[in-house]
Amino acid sequence: MKTAIIGLGVIGKVHYQVLESLDNLPVAICDVEESKMEGYVGARFTDYRKMLDEIRPDIVHICTPHYLHAEMIVYALERNINVLCEKPLCISREQMESILSAEKKSQAVLGVCHQNRYLPSNVFAKKYLEDKKLLSAYGTVVWKRDKAYYDSADWRGKWATEGGGVLINQALHTLDLMQWMSGFPSEVSASVNTLNLSDVIEVEDSALAIYYGDVQTVFTASTAGGADFPVELVFRTDTDLIRVYGDQVFINGKQYEFEEQSYFGKKVYGSGHKGLISHFYECVQNKQKFWIDGEEGAKVVRMILGAYESHAQKIDL
Ligand SMILES: NC(=O)c1ccc[n+]([C@@H]2O[C@H](COP(=O)([O-])OP(=O)(O)OC[C@H]3O[C@@H](n4cnc5c(N)ncnc54)[C@H](O)[C@@H]3O)[C@@H](O)[C@H]2O)c1
Repeated sequence: MKTAIIGLGVIGKVHYQVLESLDNLPVAICDVEESKMEGYVGARFTDYRKMLDEIRPDIVHICTPHYLHAEMIVYALERNINVLCEKPLCISREQMESILSAEKKSQAVLGVCHQNRYLPSNVFAKKYLEDKKLLSAYGTVVWKRDKAYYDSADWRGKWATEGGGVLINQALHTLDLMQWMSGFPSEVSASVNTLNLSDVIEVEDSALAIYYGDVQTVFTASTAGGADFPVELVFRTDTDLIRVYGDQVFINGKQYEFEEQSYFGKKVYGSGHKGLISHFYECVQNKQKFWIDGEEGAKVVRMILGAYESHAQKIDL
């Protein structure tokens, strides 16, 4: 596969390492900061449009700040170039419509990087819940993101460029897993606040959202932790209490163990990138649709945008 990466920051390097481990190094890489590309192979570009038009890769990985995903996805899809985009799919409803419309018209495949759906513990929990009568669920993400983190890149902490805070960035994967395992909700009532770093960021660092539908779900998230904690997903069925903590699952207190997987980058990104990227490549090779496509990646973005729009009132999603 002739591949290219846009954005050689923190996660772009993880994509690069996965491609290296798959013996499929990129033919081209692009970053607006040339220094980010030092030490990495591939023709170098600072303009992604020029790279896509000159190189015409089979697949492009988009690993740039949130506000750039939509324009980059649409540009590639319009040229029938297959796209694997990092989360979130986008940060506004207008962007979502433009992506979904470009995807419909394109012959190329779009995939969104929700890699935690590939972790054995999550796959196990999803399967376990499939034929159960689910009553309710809750999810929690408490991580530490301090001033130094927000200072590490200009786009972080701003509505225009990050599109939100803890919900659209750190907690997105967990919220996506909640809806993947327990169904897409129909309404939300949420309160989002900047409680900890209001002198540093515009976006929320703490959120409480109640999602209503077949299963009522309470979701809390904060980057005001003094440390990172394992994310937690808890489900109650008519017979079972299922608790999922990162790579551990407990059902009615009994622990189910999963083999430790190797990972690239920070442990908190999990080991799912390699599984997701390999699967996406297989789909492209076999000319099949990828299951986490535009519509699937849009689900959690709809839940998050709904939470931002709710202002503590119950609204439709
Ligand atoms: N899946 C995960 O677990 C996971 C983990 C971390 C980050 N991410 C996502 O990956 C994306 C990038 O995050 P990051 O932490 O790597 O950010 P980062 O700031 O470290 O990297 C972004 C890179 O994009 C480059 N860039 C900016 N504008 C560009 C442009 N117009 N053309 C080309 N390059 C450009 C920057 O110079 C930078 O090197 C975000 O969407 C983030 O949410 C996902």
